[in-house]
Amino acid sequence: MPSIAELKDLKVYFYDQRDKRFIRAVENAGFEVEEGSVLGVVGESGCGKTVTALSMMGLLESEPGIIGGEFFFKPHDEDVPELEQALLKRFRHKGEYRKGDLLNLFYGLGKYVRFEQKPYTIIKDTEKWLRRNDRIMEHVRGKSISMVFQSPRMSLNPFIQVGTQLKNTIRRFNRGLSSHEVNERAEELLLSVRLLQPEIFMNMYPPSLSIGMAQRVVLAIALSSNPMLLIADEPTTGLDTINIHRIIELLEILKVEMNLTLVLISHNIKIVSAIASDIAVMYAGIIVERGSKKDVIKTKKNPKHPYTEVLVSSVPSDSDIKRGKKLSVIYGSVPNNKLAVTACPFLKRCPYAEGKLRKKCESACPELTEVKHGHFLRCYLYQK
Ligand SMILES: Nc1ncnc2c1ncn2[C@@H]1O[C@H](COP(=O)(O)OP(=O)(O)O)[C@@H](O)[C@H]1O
Ligand code: SF4
Ligand SMILES: [Mg+2]
Repeated sequence: MPSIAELKDLKVYFYDQRDKRFIRAVENAGFEVEEGSVLGVVGESGCGKTVTALSMMGLLESEPGIIGGEFFFKPHDEDVPELEQALLKRFRHKGEYRKGDLLNLFYGLGKYVRFEQKPYTIIKDTEKWLRRNDRIMEHVRGKSISMVFQSPRMSLNPFIQVGTQLKNTIRRFNRGLSSHEVNERAEELLLSVRLLQPEIFMNMYPPSLSIGMAQRVVLAIALSSNPMLLIADEPTTGLDTINIHRIIELLEILKVEMNLTLVLISHNIKIVSAIASDIAVMYAGIIVERGSKKDVIKTKKNPKHPYTEVLVSSVPSDSDIKRGKKLSVIYGSVPNNKLAVTACPFLKRCPYAEGKLRKKCESACPELTEVKHGHFLRCYLYQK
């Protein structure tokens, strides 16, 4: 299947005013998302998953934010002319903007960012970049690309009825619909996320919804624009096991029913692997492994990043729980991402970094290398 989205070399930094230092949130992250597939993005808390998603949505506001990368995306056909206009209006850069199927939504970024080495300085006109990026993203955000955020209740206004919030979004993206049609569409969307008896939910206020119900309402709102790509950031946070399964199952059904492509973000590799076709594993802002689910999850025969290995073995399976099996623990903590990447980021926690190999691991961060068609690893164990 062709790609619907290609993120390349995304680099996101923030500035810590108190310490007067940059915080490295994401370093050269990239992946491809095939049309109709589910890409799972996994990694411990703080590894850059949300920042990556917000970057793709053009929703990062802290400075300097995105300082490098390209984000090629295939929008709805009807949005292409406006997007091409927005992209080309003020910029005449060659090579950053790919005409055709995929458009670089970060087009022109290079014009606003400059690096200086000694002392290391990032100079970015964030205000102008955000204004410019917004001009592109207004044709994409919440339309061709939708996102559900980590806390569903926080995404809803507690003082406005569910139906009103849903209908307002439907009106925004489907101009020209009559009130009756908007109402019908709202009920249809609530039914599609399996909130039966939609007329009851329409009149409810968000605080009276359970987290599972709120998540479904947020999903209905996100789907109201008929997106092509849906980014779900930790959609199972706060849910019990049964509801986790239900939400994941629902995402899988919606993918088929609505012809969606999904980016599913979670700290739990087991949740992701339930429906993902491909998986990207992040550690300390860096993608350390990516490939098909089969390549990434099957630990026995395949080459495997040491971090993925512990990630997989630290999640209990249902039979592990029944048998009371002891699980692997990931000792140590994620490194301080204020430091520059001068070694493998997993070095301090890696059980394989010994002897000669350790010297290599200490010398520089390994490149992401294709060890087998479509399977990429960032580890000296698999580099010649
Ligand atoms: N607005 C911000 N300002 C400063 N640092 C931030 C900001 N947002 C995120 N970070 C930092 O960026 C890193 C990645 O965060 P995040 O993407 O939220 O992680 P994850 O979603 O994987 O838990 C973390 O170290 C986090 O503290
Ligand atoms: S490069 Fe070295 S430290 Fe990093 S994961 Fe591989 S073996 Fe471990
Ligand atoms: Mg997050």
